Amino acid sequence: MSETFQLDGEDVPFAPAQTVLQAALAAGRYIPHLCYHPEFKPHGSCRVCTVQANGRTQAACTLPAAAGLEVESASEEMNALRRTLVQMLFAEGNHFCPSCEKSGNCVLQALGSDLGVLTAGFRHFYPDRPVDASHPDILLDFNRCILCELCVRASCEVDGKCVFALSGRGLDKHLIVNAASGKLVDTDIALFDKAMEVCPVGVILKKRVGFAVPIGQRRYDQRPISAQALDDAPRVSAASGECAACEGSGAVSALALTEPASSFGEETP
Ligand code: SF4
Ligand code: FES
Repeated sequence: MSETFQLDGEDVPFAPAQTVLQAALAAGRYIPHLCYHPEFKPHGSCRVCTVQANGRTQAACTLPAAAGLEVESASEEMNALRRTLVQMLFAEGNHFCPSCEKSGNCVLQALGSDLGVLTAGFRHFYPDRPVDASHPDILLDFNRCILCELCVRASCEVDGKCVFALSGRGLDKHLIVNAASGKLVDTDIALFDKAMEVCPVGVILKKRVGFAVPIGQRRYDQRPISAQALDDAPRVSAASGECAACEGSGAVSALALTEPASSFGEETP
């Protein structure tokens, strides 16, 4: 691995087929992100990973790393844009953290905290989407969905079930489940499906295990998401190896994983 691009004025090495976000995380450099998950192909929907690259704002999770690319990420301008995006996500859903059992383990909340989102910024939409409590073990609160599609991809690509999908366009876009009744109980979802792990917010919840982790011991209570995201990323190794989390991983040869990437969703024990 010899080629590099510049991130905030410092050289970042990259391997073939890596995106700017993947290379940055692998090199121990954090770029804020929300819908990117190291085990899935980048989706590019949240735009929180927006950086300035060669004079244009672009999503770092879908921007291929290229030699000589000049990327600006850690500037106040980029972080102000990210704060606005996070405020918009809070405004369009019902993210009432004090009553949400995902609080402390929620990527959206942790990201907002890390970026310094202190005000609402926008008038809230207060959506009124009925909760699906039909399944004996699993609860769906659609009012918290940020449309990242991680559950959709996990259910199709890993579980082979395609339990979830996004339907509608624009403001009407929403999560649906694959059953004639529209109810989760009529799908073949199982508690140990990958789709149960990946939701970054509090939509897909296991019943009877909420609020089980004491305050102070939740995932983001002690260390900010900017530090934990680096723990989760495949890291650069001096020895050559494979980067399983990169697009076209078969062609990548200069990175090695030290730790497996962990999931966004933390099960409350
Ligand atoms: S339910 Fe969760 S994982 Fe699925 S699209 Fe909504 S926010 Fe993403
Ligand atoms: S993390 Fe890049 S668009 Fe969401």
